[in-house]
Amino acid sequence: MSERFYITTAIDYVNGRPHLGHAYEKVITDVIARSRRSLGEQVFFLTGLDEHGQKVQQAAAAEGREPQVYCDDIARAFRELATSLNLTLDDFVRTTESRHRTVVQAILAKLHREGRFRVGTYEGWYSPKEETFLTEKDRLPDGSFPAVYGQVNPLVESNYFFPLQPYQQWLIDHIESHPDFVYPDYRRNEVLGFLKKEPLEDLCISRPKSRLAWGIPLPFDPDYVTYVWFDALTNYVTVPASMGDATAAGPIGLPVDPGAPSLWPAIHVIGKDILKFHAVYWPIMLHAAGIPIPRQILAHGWWQKDGQKLSKSTGNVVDPHVVINEWGVDAFRYYLVRELDIGPDGNWTDSGFSARYHAELANGLGNLVNRSLKMLKSYRAGRIPAPSTDLASAAAGAAEAVAKAYRAYELQGALVAAWELVDRANKFVEETAPFKLAKDPSQAARLDEILYSLVESCRILAVLLWPVIPETAGKIYAQLGSPGVPDSFASSAWGGLQEGQMVGEPLPLFPRKDAPVKK
Ligand code: ME8
Ligand code: MG
Repeated sequence: MSERFYITTAIDYVNGRPHLGHAYEKVITDVIARSRRSLGEQVFFLTGLDEHGQKVQQAAAAEGREPQVYCDDIARAFRELATSLNLTLDDFVRTTESRHRTVVQAILAKLHREGRFRVGTYEGWYSPKEETFLTEKDRLPDGSFPAVYGQVNPLVESNYFFPLQPYQQWLIDHIESHPDFVYPDYRRNEVLGFLKKEPLEDLCISRPKSRLAWGIPLPFDPDYVTYVWFDALTNYVTVPASMGDATAAGPIGLPVDPGAPSLWPAIHVIGKDILKFHAVYWPIMLHAAGIPIPRQILAHGWWQKDGQKLSKSTGNVVDPHVVINEWGVDAFRYYLVRELDIGPDGNWTDSGFSARYHAELANGLGNLVNRSLKMLKSYRAGRIPAPSTDLASAAAGAAEAVAKAYRAYELQGALVAAWELVDRANKFVEETAPFKLAKDPSQAARLDEILYSLVESCRILAVLLWPVIPETAGKIYAQLGSPGVPDSFASSAWGGLQEGQMVGEPLPLFPRKDAPVKK
């Protein structure tokens, strides 16, 4: 079957409820997925949950619950968030599912069979909080370990190790010859810097069951479970492999279905903190297993609120549900995408959110659509006049710039380009003053032209903005009386509105919240 644009998010830890960072990553991935579909590609969008490991075992124990019961409960909250965010998911993977265990064990069995692992004794320091082994090199100048690791304990234990060094030069070569492999480029340089600094240490891929029971058993040694990162990264292959995609299933001996969609390799959207896992360990795991490596890794930055780290304990949080309930899902999606490009860190402020809502959504887009439709209602009884071309080149320019930006993952740039048309059209209203022309019957033909250009620009904006604000884009189509959904970029060509079409009721898209509502 034909190739898909297969895009994934990180799978979230279920050791807490979903937060702004989780929501952001899902929204930008959904915008990419929707924009690619709109541009005519076949897309498959995957997200899911990371349910094994010490963090989750501890979180469940703290609530006195069985890990699976605990996971099922939190999983519901994450699925609800996916629905509230209006994500166009094609699947949702959980690492406690049997399809996932099958794939993890198939990869482990192959690597073990082919002699890629060694048994070794680990003697050093261990951080249960971050589930990482630490060495003397990790100590700060004052001898302590960085606070992110929490309580650090001495540890001696026997484990399975995966030597990575044999793949190090291959990976450097791949990244150097594929400049797009890691986006943006400063993150790529970070990965190359790490890879060129020193030989890669062997990766410990097991945990003794006696210490950690909540994981996938090693298929070749029942006394151990799989290291949670080896388990989690594999989720991306789980879905294509269990559907029978030959590229993913074939190399690890799972059944191939010639009718399955061709998904693998994927594009991964992740946060900057987990770049090393995705750009170093994951490609090496795949390469060793004979599976092609990911197409691309897009690393986004981190959100703060009011210049401080998001933190449950200090209450410095943004609850996505609260914002969505108060402002609507599209306002939330819009702010996240408009405020922050994929790469740098962002800072949420309630005043910044409200300012963008009022200036750009209510006064900008909302006002344009509302007044265009209202004028058409009052001056032409809601009937679309014959096509005119006043704003045609502005719209074509915007459509081209927006498509280019979507293709380049410049989502913020796409909105900036679309708003040039919003601003141009609003300015066109001021310049042409249709409310004056309406009083002069000799200007009827000119008024028709102006009204057509305005409502047609609104229609085109619905198409350009559908990936970011799909609910609003749908409302614009409905208010224009246009059938269907504005989900295809092809319909952004000028002239889509037909003479004689009757528009619907103009209802405010983004009601103002900073002044008393007029009754
Ligand atoms: O890391 N701003 O899960 P996680 C932006 N299970 N993004 C943020 C953020 C913030 N403040 N906080 C977290 C894990 N994220 C693993 C992933 S993938 C095989 C396994 C992002 O729940 C973070 O960067 O800690 C990551 O991409 C995602 O949320 C999940 O984080
Ligand atoms: Mg994390």
